[in-house]
Amino acid sequence: MAQLAVSVAGLSLRNPLLSASGTFGHGLEMRHVVAPSLVGALVSKTVTPRPRPGNAMPRIQETEAGLLNSIGLENRGMQSYLDTTLPEVAGADTVIITNIGGETEQEFAEIAAAFDGRPEIDAFELNLSCPNVDGGALPYSTDPKTAERVVASVRAVTRKPLFAKLSPNVTRIEDIAVACERGGADGLTAVNTVLGMSIDWRTGRPGLGTIVGGYSGTAIKPIALRCAWQCARAVSLPVLGCGGVRCAEDVLEFLAVGCSAVQVGTANFGEPGLLARMPAELDRLLDDAGFASVEDLIGSVRGGSRAEVPG
Ligand code: FUM
Repeated sequence: MAQLAVSVAGLSLRNPLLSASGTFGHGLEMRHVVAPSLVGALVSKTVTPRPRPGNAMPRIQETEAGLLNSIGLENRGMQSYLDTTLPEVAGADTVIITNIGGETEQEFAEIAAAFDGRPEIDAFELNLSCPNVDGGALPYSTDPKTAERVVASVRAVTRKPLFAKLSPNVTRIEDIAVACERGGADGLTAVNTVLGMSIDWRTGRPGLGTIVGGYSGTAIKPIALRCAWQCARAVSLPVLGCGGVRCAEDVLEFLAVGCSAVQVGTANFGEPGLLARMPAELDRLLDDAGFASVEDLIGSVRGGSRAEVPG
């Protein structure tokens, strides 16, 4: 049997499989389909200081090879998370990563400070990269200085591990990764959704109420893989791969490009029990390929020269 356990930013994960924020409730809603003890960690839907109703409908649109969403960070706010969700989460037999967001830079620190004393939360994931608020401007994940400032402001109020979730919608994700490392992040999540849209040409109606939203699912895996690889090369922080993962083979690809663990997102909607069958599949695939452990595979990507071939 291959050793699946990994250590990431001081967290001991029983395997490298995590749920991706926004695709698995706060985690425990899915416990009858995926026992928390089967996954390395559960990542919550983004929680913001105040409740948010989310964006205008329609907010979900299936496309040929993925999913468009413009949820708009709908959630009940931090007080409800503290009063209702965390007491439920307390008994979960896994690592809990709470994804937090804010409408202003100050709100990221506000919510981190409010949650810092809660032992049920093992780590934070900072949602710097939601494409469905601020008119899709991505103010916290496209400018290195802003990203660094937000991470630093959260770092100042908590010692819990911090993962900064980055956007693929930038020219040089490495620059944002390095900025987050400078700000004091303990890890990165690469990546959030790709900006996209759909339209019915007969009616002229866009698929989403906000017209532009976040695109996820199978089609974005090569983009996410490239971003994760670039981040892993640019910083000395652990990277959580995320984007288009739908099977154990995909997970192994993200590990090979340097990720320490991998989030499974949109594929959960098509197969809610997916995360429950993945650990055994990872084990079998690693065994068959002669890897004694997940750790042996991490960063095993070969090559790396990007020199152009002379024409
Ligand atoms: O709109 C949403 O709630 C999605 C958030 C995200 O992709 O970060």
